[in-house]
Amino acid sequence: MKYRKELDKINAYKPGKPIEELKREKKLTKIHKLASNEIPFKPTYIYKAVNKELKNINRYPESSCFYLKNKLAKKLKVKTNSIVFGNGSDEIITLVLRTFIEAGDEVIVASPSFLIYEIQARIFGAKVVEVPLKKYAYHLNGIRKKITKKTKIIFIANPDNPTGTYLDQNQINNFVEKVPKNVLLFFDEAYFEFAPNDFPKTVKLLKKRKNIIVTRTFSKAYGLAGLRIGYGITNKKIADLINKVKEPFNINRIAQVAARVALENKSFVRKVINFTNKEKRYFYNQFDQLGISYINSATNFITVNFKKNTKKLYRYMLGQGMIIRELSGWGLTNHFRVTIGTHLQNQKFIKLLKDYIGRKKK
Ligand SMILES: Cc1ncc(COP(=O)(O)O)c(C=O)c1O
Repeated sequence: MKYRKELDKINAYKPGKPIEELKREKKLTKIHKLASNEIPFKPTYIYKAVNKELKNINRYPESSCFYLKNKLAKKLKVKTNSIVFGNGSDEIITLVLRTFIEAGDEVIVASPSFLIYEIQARIFGAKVVEVPLKKYAYHLNGIRKKITKKTKIIFIANPDNPTGTYLDQNQINNFVEKVPKNVLLFFDEAYFEFAPNDFPKTVKLLKKRKNIIVTRTFSKAYGLAGLRIGYGITNKKIADLINKVKEPFNINRIAQVAARVALENKSFVRKVINFTNKEKRYFYNQFDQLGISYINSATNFITVNFKKNTKKLYRYMLGQGMIIRELSGWGLTNHFRVTIGTHLQNQKFIKLLKDYIGRKKK
């Protein structure tokens, strides 16, 4: 059977190893996953509302996410008709490409950055133009120089994954000014809640510019990764187009209810952020003591320059029930990424790292 020839050039996205898979493979019962930038806390505050919703699961969800959309619009001080929801913010990347890409269009991505941009852009037949990071950060001047008449979308992960670096308000303002109005700027803010105070207020830019979409997610600071829900904030025109191409029921009932309750609970996110910052300092201290180089992170993960190939380290960690992320898929073969876990998990990770380094020295 004939299939689309673009697919031959695409490697499927390889997510962090699932806990269940490692349990099956190694016959281990205790697994620590510090690989996919999930938070280590269970959002128990949503259980009651979710339980209540279970009695309705024989019915399709509301396609418009009415109640959630209203609540979110109020919180963000934007109009409801400028918000779109996705099955994870991942899905909004796909929906935007489905909305805008035609044959011959170009999409600009940073390299390395979040891999879904380029994988999905290629699936839609776009030409992907890659701009290398500079000192682990987005090189906005380099990106600007790559804009051509064919450029349709520029993807900016801010803060970035896998480096954890971020662009501040001035950098974003200068850049936005210089990008032609017919090029869509996609600001992926999956780690928004973890970012420092001088993080840009991109939602405010939406008032002045019609070529922007900002995406955020309930998967990270809110702890709802398993329910798959994220959102985009843009303008009515773009939101209407995206709503035309989306699946009608892409956000299930449970996710809608959970996200709504999540927006009401400020103390959970605050606790997550404070905890994450404290544990990041723990990791930085430990890495400093071990003489290990790391990239300062505006997120809930840290990328480490191990200065040698991390494949063996990754396998050693797996054998001990510890899942981290080796970054060869991003071309960063000497680096690994570790997500902030509970304090015990973080301690365990550092102990294993010390053991591994000690073994290698013997
Ligand atoms: C930069 C970035 N964008 C988007 C996502 C997707 O998140 P989700 O689809 O769970 O909202 C991730 C997940 O790791 C990410 O790192």
